[in-house]
Amino acid sequence: MMHWHPLVDEFLPTLIALRRQIHRHPELGFQEHRTAALIASTLTALGISPCSGVAGTGVTAVLAGQAGPTVAIRADMDALPIQEQNAVPYASTVPNVMHACGHDGHVATVLGAAMVLSKLAPLPGTVKFIFQPAEEGPGGARPMIEAGVLQHPAVEAIFGLHLTNALPVGRIGVCYGQTCAATDEIKITVLGKGGHGAHPHQAVDAIVAAAQVVASLQTIASRQVDPLESVVVTIGTIAGGYANNVIADKVELHGTVRTLNEAVRAAMPEKIERIVRNVSAAYGADCRFEYLHGYPSLVNDQALTGLLESSAVKAIGRDNVVPYPPSMGGEDFAYFARAVPATFFRLGSGSAICTHPGHHPRFDFAEEALGVGATVLVQAVLDYFRV
Ligand code: NI
Repeated sequence: MMHWHPLVDEFLPTLIALRRQIHRHPELGFQEHRTAALIASTLTALGISPCSGVAGTGVTAVLAGQAGPTVAIRADMDALPIQEQNAVPYASTVPNVMHACGHDGHVATVLGAAMVLSKLAPLPGTVKFIFQPAEEGPGGARPMIEAGVLQHPAVEAIFGLHLTNALPVGRIGVCYGQTCAATDEIKITVLGKGGHGAHPHQAVDAIVAAAQVVASLQTIASRQVDPLESVVVTIGTIAGGYANNVIADKVELHGTVRTLNEAVRAAMPEKIERIVRNVSAAYGADCRFEYLHGYPSLVNDQALTGLLESSAVKAIGRDNVVPYPPSMGGEDFAYFARAVPATFFRLGSGSAICTHPGHHPRFDFAEEALGVGATVLVQAVLDYFRV
């Protein structure tokens, strides 16, 4: 096989141009039409025929090899409803939409891997490229799997990645086992009885009851779950009341529940509902409770993560491959990881200028990361074929 590392340097300006083009024209989940068209035309130019419109705006493409296994690489494509505050030439041209999570970079990185791998063809195995919509919600991974992207040919392993400015560009972070949290949602309505602010004894104050519910929910993490397990219960919004001298009859709470361990997650609806119902009842209030299951937790496969780590060491050097802790953030790559052995790594993109975290209106990343990510992915795919 030819020595391919120089190809990454050769393609890097193209990857940066692609990333900037996507960055200028960000699209929200399931609206990634322009992004999908750019991906499809780039793949077509490489001689890899794309399949567009998968689960809405998803794109897949197969680089067929001579026999051998099939391995997939996944990138997400969607942007966020944020107004960009960077004054860069490639800043978003769409008001209130921005690639603030680096998914533009994920697309460019995976296209970079496709460019290099297409030059190395014929390969001793098949590579499937998966570009999925709506990672930020409501989730494109599950509908793509339901549409059959892991079949024909059957995918035996899958790689995914996420940029992070918490690591300097040039490095990657590797995590074994539990990697991202399950992201569930709770909707609570505390129902009291309205009245005059001066006569609380004639009313049931939904605000006082709701305040106790919020405080008591914090005892789930501190008192009801093994302290060695990770749980977050966050009430993100609270709404109720009419005027300073009116007792509220109703308060609505909306929150997120994050867990890494699926057994801990399974116990959450009952634990949370028990507190909501009984604390409300203690104050004479009634309640409505809804628990909505979101993405499952992401668990990296041990063996595939081991392969990725050793490939990365080979490709970018031991000092540039570091352990990375699990995150309570969510990632719908978890659905792929539930279907086939998977590993998801962090691609360092921090620099002196790029310091803001994802979802920040000034998020930007060091673009050399695109080449680093493509290098690691290509090496991992080649090593997978050799195993
Ligand atoms: Ni993201």
